[in-house]
Amino acid sequence: MSDKKILFSGIQPTGELHIGNYLGALRNWVELQDKHDCFYSIVDLHAITIDYDQENYQEQILNTAIDLLALGIDPKKSTLFVQSRVPEHTELTWLFNTLIPMAELQRMTQFKDKSRQNFNNINMGLFDYPVLQAADILLYKGELVPVGEDQLQHLELANTILRKFNNKFGEYFQKIEPIISKSARVMSLQEPNNKMSKSLGTTNYIALRDDEDTIRKKIMSAKTDAGPQKDGHMSPGVDNLFTLLENFADEKIVKKFNLDYHNGNLKYSELKAELAQTIINTLKPIQDNIVKLEKDKDKVKKILEKGAQKAKKIAENNILEIKEKMGLI
Ligand code: TYM
Repeated sequence: MSDKKILFSGIQPTGELHIGNYLGALRNWVELQDKHDCFYSIVDLHAITIDYDQENYQEQILNTAIDLLALGIDPKKSTLFVQSRVPEHTELTWLFNTLIPMAELQRMTQFKDKSRQNFNNINMGLFDYPVLQAADILLYKGELVPVGEDQLQHLELANTILRKFNNKFGEYFQKIEPIISKSARVMSLQEPNNKMSKSLGTTNYIALRDDEDTIRKKIMSAKTDAGPQKDGHMSPGVDNLFTLLENFADEKIVKKFNLDYHNGNLKYSELKAELAQTIINTLKPIQDNIVKLEKDKDKVKKILEKGAQKAKKIAENNILEIKEKMGLI
């Protein structure tokens, strides 16, 4: 018997993807395509819960699709689509809203963080964000969800929602299981106590589209020293650089720098130069793919249209079943 399961994940079209997205989630997205029935969504409805650039939004969405295809998302294997093209996502969100107490949403750390960052625009959508995320996954009866560590609390909430649904209306949804990569939390280059994120500013992250010079500059100016650390542990900045090195460089190189560190011979400038070069080398073929795809945007648009059609068929069928269970039909 095949153990192929339904897998769902999403990414916000915030302009440019970074190596935190790549190591935390997207690398897994590509690998898992052969094993499962994968749905990957560009979640444009999530990204409008904070201030966004409406003038260039369609371009940002297309760029996100281009980046995903360049990384190796294969439309022959996976369903790639834009969330708002399948309105059943918002319909299911409303149905789930009636099941989940507000108190559960008030506990969400991402809501608290984003409210602090966007204190003059704390809208209902921001509050409801995790319910839309649960609807994304469950609309397709998704069971597996590859994400970075920051999304785990949202997935717990999705499991709470589906448990409440199953208890009230009869077994329908399977439990959701996160798939977490070994670098589930990549840290910012300048503020290594915070996760790498676009909202911290461009010097904090390496974008998939950054050119060689930019990558070198950003890595060379990454924070390393934070004074003496307890129990001889690496400072958060150095630790993060080693995490990146482990992901991008050969084992032999990682071993050499680890040995240097433990012998007290580590030169940060050498470590950074090596790291910058390995990141440049890894991103090169992806960037070549981006250049090719940029020349054929119509093809990318067609891929998204086809993906939305395929997703919509399944969504329409499942929402009918869900509404039937809830006594709405
Ligand atoms: P988003 O767009 O913020 O991030 C996309 C993916 O990248 C991961 N990620 C990281 N991983 C490690 N280190 C980092 N510094 C880092 N920054 C980002 C995220 O964990 C995520 O997996 N709410 C989701 C989008 C979403 C979704 C869904 C995900 C909407 N619906 C349904 C899964 C299932 C988000 O904000 O992703």
